[in-house]
Amino acid sequence: MAALVTLEGIEGCGKSTQAGLLAAHLEDRGLETVLTCEPGGTRVTAEIRRLLADPASELDPRAELLLFLADRAQHVTEVIRPALERGAVVICDRYSDSTIAYQCHGRGHERALVDELNAWAAGQLVPDLTLWIDCEIGIGLERARVHSGGPGDRFEAEPTAFHQRVRDGFAGCCKDDPERVRRIDGNRDQASVTASVLATVDEF
Ligand code: TYD
Repeated sequence: MAALVTLEGIEGCGKSTQAGLLAAHLEDRGLETVLTCEPGGTRVTAEIRRLLADPASELDPRAELLLFLADRAQHVTEVIRPALERGAVVICDRYSDSTIAYQCHGRGHERALVDELNAWAAGQLVPDLTLWIDCEIGIGLERARVHSGGPGDRFEAEPTAFHQRVRDGFAGCCKDDPERVRRIDGNRDQASVTASVLATVDEF
């Protein structure tokens, strides 16, 4: 059964760990599963990811938006669509809701413009299910800091108010499309979050 399942949330919410556990769970059930992420996931997009993460990149906010969209266009064409056409389940760590949360709510780009560009870059490919791993800013940033063991990337260096706007952005995505975007309480221990993730996907 082909499906695109995306995981979203602020820095350090635990979605990458959950994405890996979910992929293993689906494989155990005999489903062909492709685990991938944005930005990144292909040779071309690895270059884009490097530019986006580098604290030395003084990126104009429009250039930043277009780089995320370039990443998505390449990733959809090269990885996601072929996998869906083979009948695989694709688990993608971040996708278009991140662009709304970070570039609209975080950076202030106009929503209607980003909606149009998002749809265009993704070739109209919308996730079947999105798991929003929601956690408190303080918890997420602390986990991200411990995990990166250093100053972190360009986004981790943003002030708390930026991350608060991003979190509000994800809440808005959930409110606008509650059938697709399911909130999972990410403030709990990892095993409890995993139990909710697997239950939500199994029900789907
Ligand atoms: P990454 O190292 O993958 O962080 P994380 O583990 O938190 O996913 O870096 C991705 C960063 O890019 C992350 O801070 C969120 C940001 N981002 C956007 O701003 N817009 C987007 O469309 C996407 C996909 C990611």
